[in-house]
Amino acid sequence: MTQGLTQDGAKRMAARHALEFVEDGMSLGLGTGTTSAIFIQELGERVKGGLKVRGIATSAASQKLAESLSIPITNFEETPELDLAIDGADEVGPGLALIKGGGGALLREKIVESAARKFIVIADSSKLVQKLGKFPLPVEVIQMAKPTVERRLAALGLNPKLRHHADGSKYITDENNFILDCFCGEIDDPAKTAADIRAIVGVVEHGLFLNMASFALIASDQGVAKVAR
Ligand code: 5RP
Repeated sequence: MTQGLTQDGAKRMAARHALEFVEDGMSLGLGTGTTSAIFIQELGERVKGGLKVRGIATSAASQKLAESLSIPITNFEETPELDLAIDGADEVGPGLALIKGGGGALLREKIVESAARKFIVIADSSKLVQKLGKFPLPVEVIQMAKPTVERRLAALGLNPKLRHHADGSKYITDENNFILDCFCGEIDDPAKTAADIRAIVGVVEHGLFLNMASFALIASDQGVAKVAR
């Protein structure tokens, strides 16, 4: 990605920088993906050192990781509003419009991040784009609705493909839904695309996260840049 710094190194830099925004007593949204996993591991070290936080995870995998590091887990009954959510992204576009869900956790991610007073995106600089859409846009759908949703997404020109695991089995989300990845190319009007997808019955959620991020911490070999909306 950049001279000297690997992509993993940049992810670690962004994740570590995000820890500076975590304060004692906070309730946290814990993201999903490789960058978020680094953040959770680093947070676990701080918890071991005495930091008091509690978290709601955006996936079963992140919850398992947090629990393995003794990070206390809460839920929306106990903690209806979170102080801060920290998560990665697949693409970060102008105005901090995001594509998320490459790791399949878009539904819980959107729930958790919309319940947080502040949402910080952590990413390496390869995720910054001028226009969203090179990364396929994930759409989570009810299993029985997949054929009808697929036809409607295709009619919108969004080129959906059912997500599979590497072994050929169908990908099922934590919420027992399918994911249709839309290979739509550049998205000219993310708000319109989001509204068009949301209007399809059988769609549970889509991976366009618009007007949600407070700021992004983008790491490159120049350091970590705080990118505002
Ligand atoms: C998971 C996500 C992740 O935040 C996104 O895929 C980025 O992952 P990584 O940090 O591994 O690049 O949206 O659903």
